[in-house]
This record gives sequence, structure tokens and C-alpha cells, in this order.
Amino acid sequence: MSPLNEKCFYGRTYMSRDVIRPLRAIVCDENASRTLLTTEWERSDFIILRHELLRRTAIHRHIMQREGCQPLKCLPNKWFPPFGLDKLRKVVEAERAKAYPLFMLEDHEKHGDTYCQWGGPMYTVITRDPHNIREMLSRQFKNFEIGNARHGCVRPLLGDGIFIQDGAEWEASRKLSGPMIHRPSLPDLSLLERHFQRLQSRVAPSYYPNDLSASPSLDLKDYLLDLSLQLTTEFLLGEDINTASHGMNSETSVWNGAFAKEFDNAFRWISKRERYKVFYWLVDGLEFRRSCNAARDLVDEIVCRSVETRKMYKTPTETYIALEPLLSEQRDTEVVRDQFMNLLLAGRDTSGALLSWLFYALAREPHLVKILKKEIEDILDMDRSRTPTKSELNGMVKLDQFISETLRLFPPNPLNGRFSVLATFLPYGGGEDGEAPILIPKGTLVAFSTFAAQHNQDLYGETANRFRIDRWDDVRTKERRTVDWSYHPFLEEGRGNAWAVG
Ligand code: HEM
Repeated sequence: MSPLNEKCFYGRTYMSRDVIRPLRAIVCDENASRTLLTTEWERSDFIILRHELLRRTAIHRHIMQREGCQPLKCLPNKWFPPFGLDKLRKVVEAERAKAYPLFMLEDHEKHGDTYCQWGGPMYTVITRDPHNIREMLSRQFKNFEIGNARHGCVRPLLGDGIFIQDGAEWEASRKLSGPMIHRPSLPDLSLLERHFQRLQSRVAPSYYPNDLSASPSLDLKDYLLDLSLQLTTEFLLGEDINTASHGMNSETSVWNGAFAKEFDNAFRWISKRERYKVFYWLVDGLEFRRSCNAARDLVDEIVCRSVETRKMYKTPTETYIALEPLLSEQRDTEVVRDQFMNLLLAGRDTSGALLSWLFYALAREPHLVKILKKEIEDILDMDRSRTPTKSELNGMVKLDQFISETLRLFPPNPLNGRFSVLATFLPYGGGEDGEAPILIPKGTLVAFSTFAAQHNQDLYGETANRFRIDRWDDVRTKERRTVDWSYHPFLEEGRGNAWAVG
């Protein structure tokens, strides 16, 4: 008998039939339960439990029959250490080595596109199948939620906001923030140019040190994260934090440095908490709380100043300010702060990560520098001193391909997950060949890997792991891959679709 047939689904649990048969006998046989349970309390609890089990089993059976679900490959947990702690240890080690997405990719290569595993009390389905990801985030959008785990994880830093909400609260936040962020046109390019010039002047002395014997190498990551912090803040609040804070006119202001430090530290803690899923609360500490509070206080400061500025200059400024409606409606500073924090988290790290990977890719593919340079010079007519217009930017085809390929190989959000709010199904992963639908019981965590999906050789061929911008030569490729979800760095539909800012 194959390992898949040896197990079957009962309630939320994968249990061997040896366990299920006696349990089913007890649950269904009134006399057996009476002899086992003595007090009235035990009996009433047992009746509720039995009722719930029978109800769930009936629902599961109905879904399985209706959709033709087949059993899903389930990775066994070791007896020792128990509760899937061995997997958690490997995850933490991979995280420490900054190789978690790669670790997940290797697991998919070993175990298939979709499989499941118990992590403590949590039944987790792990998938990289674009059909399943699309089903979850698009067709069955209402059947899955971000869940309390992410909420609890990041709440000390972000408060309440769009990034962590579900259901009615999320819809309300979306109504509030949507019109501010979802803009048909690109942001003002002079804003990008100003910040980029500043970055260049900061980087140049480090790259060309006075000591000529020093190696001309440079870690750009922090500079780029800094750049995206400044850009996102100015985009949201219209406040140039480099020049405006504390009335200082210095290159790197106190606010900027202090905020980046506290925000980064809190974010490191949050990443660790996220790995522990429902046990996130085990990862806590004074240092984490202090960083969250300090970052929130610093944001309060800048939000209050923006509100004051708005009051002083009643006429709206020429510059686009994403949070303008919130600021001018004179809402609670707390509401503005929380929305700002959520958008900052959504925008700053993703853009910073993308910029870092773009430079990484350029360093590894030097021939692309020539191709991109030529395209830009052709379009700008050799006039490198002026910024391109929006339509010229849209005409930079190679640049677009280069960014798409970077987002494919190094997506800024490589791993993600949703909890099922009711018993349902996903279309692939069941049976020996993984082609049949699978049952998703209520409360299942479906973890999905954008990174592993976009590295899948079945989808991208033998060159899946190589950086090839020519795979985007056909202009229809991106659209086709976005529609079938084999390319989804922004999670285009569902929660992602209206947020074209990225
Ligand atoms: C390269 C840049 C970016 C990438 C790759 C990116 C990617 C994503 C992804 C994958 C999600 C879905 C997360 C989830 O639901 O689990 C998301 C959500 C979101 N992003 Fe971005 N993003 C980028 C830049 C930005 C920027 C610059 C902003 C705004 C300043 C932004 C605002 C948002 C918001 C508000 C959400 C939540 C939307 C919702 O839940 O309805 N993003 N982004």
C-alpha cells in the first residue's frame, strides 16, 4: 500500500487508520462513551466534542466528494524532538543564514509542489503551485485571511492598519488608504531624481576613498534602504526628512538615523516572531518593545509636524502627498500614525530590497550594464543631464525586462501565508501525481512561496535559476504569466491588485 493510501483525513487531523477506527467507534457508540466518561461535566463536554467532530467530518466528506479531493502528501514529524520542533530548528538556522527562501525551494524540489506537515498543533499546507495561490488570493479570496498570528506579531510596531487587517476592518482601511495610494500616474519624477542625486553624493566618497590602496567595494544595502525610507516618507507625508526634521539642514538628520535604527531593530524581531507562527508571543523582550515604542514616538513627531504644517499653509501644495486626505481631515494622530507605519512597512522594505537586488544583478551580469546604458542613451538622445519623461520611461523596454527578471528571481516578499476561515479545497496537490484537489480544513495555514514558484523549472524551463531578461522579449509573456500567476511578485489580484505603487 502506498504511503498516501495508508493515511486518510479525519477531522482536521491526518491520522493512521489504526487510530481512527477505535476513535470513531467511541465517538459513534453512546454506550462506549458512557463507560469511559463518568461525571456529567465530562459527558456534556464529550457530547459537544462529538457533535463538532461529526459535523466537521460530514462537511469534509461533502467537500471531498463534491470536488473529488484526494489525500495530500504529508511529511512525517520525528518522535524526538516532538511537535515538529526539528523543522522549526532547521527554519531558524536557515533564517539565520539568510537562506530561508532557498531552504523552502529545496524542500519543494524534494517533496513536490504541494505537501503538508504538522507544526505543533498547526496543520500547515505548503505550496508553490500557482493554481493554488491564485485560487486562494483570487477566486476564494473571502475564504482565507491573514489571521491573528501576523496581527499579533507586528501589532506592537504597526498598530492597526491595512497590512495586517482582515474582513470589514481591512475593507475600511482600504477605503481610507486606497484613493491615496492607488494613482493612475507615476509619482513626480523630480522627487526620485533629487533623492537619487543625494544618494550618489553620499556613496561617491565611500566608493572612491582617499586611500587608493583600499578596495573599491561597497555595501549598498543600507544606503538603498535609507533611500527608500526617505522616498516613501516624502511620498506619504510630503516631508523631506533629510532636510526638515528638527529644523536641521544636515545631510543625514537625527530623525532619519534614529528612526531607521529603531525600525530595523523592531523589524528584525518581527521577522523572528513570524517564523514561530501562532507561538510568536514566545519571541518578545524589552529591547523589542523599546524599539517599537521609540519608532512609534518618532513617527508621532513627524506626523504631528505634518499636521501643523498643513494647518499653517491652508492651500494645498503642488507636490503630491499620499496621506494628504488623512492629514487635512484632521483625524486622530494615532490613526494617521498607524496608517503611515503600515504603508511605510509595505513600501520601504520592498522597494529597498528590490533596489538592492537590482544592483546585485547588475554586478553579476555586467553585459546588461551596456545594454541598459545604450537603451537609456538612445531614448534620451545622449542628453544624460535631463530626467526622462514618463512616456520615455515607459518606452525603456530592456529596463522593464531587467526589473521583471529581478522581481522573478529575487521577489521582495518571497514567502507568505493565509489561514482558511472555513473548510474548503485547493485545486492541486492531491493523489499520487498531485493533480487532484485537496481538502483544506478550517484554520489551516496555507504557506506559499513566491520565490519557489518563480524558480520552478516546470514553469520556467531549465534556465529557471538563471538571470535571462530575454525570457520577457515577447511583450505578452508578462501578462500571460501574471494571469496564470506563475509570476506574482505583487500578488496582483485579491489584496494586491489595487496597489500598483510598488
Ligand atoms: C517593489 C516594490 C513592492 C513590492 C514587490 C510589493 C509587494 C507587495 C505584496 C506581495 C503585497 C501583498 C502582501 C500580503 O498581502 O501578504 C503588498 C501589499 C501592499 N503593498 Fe506593496 N509592494 C511594493 C511596494 C509598495 C509601496 C511603495 C507601497 C506604498 C507606499 C506599497 C503598499 C502596499 C500596501 C498598502 C499593501 C497592502 C494591500 C492590501 O492588503 O490590500 N507597496 N505589496
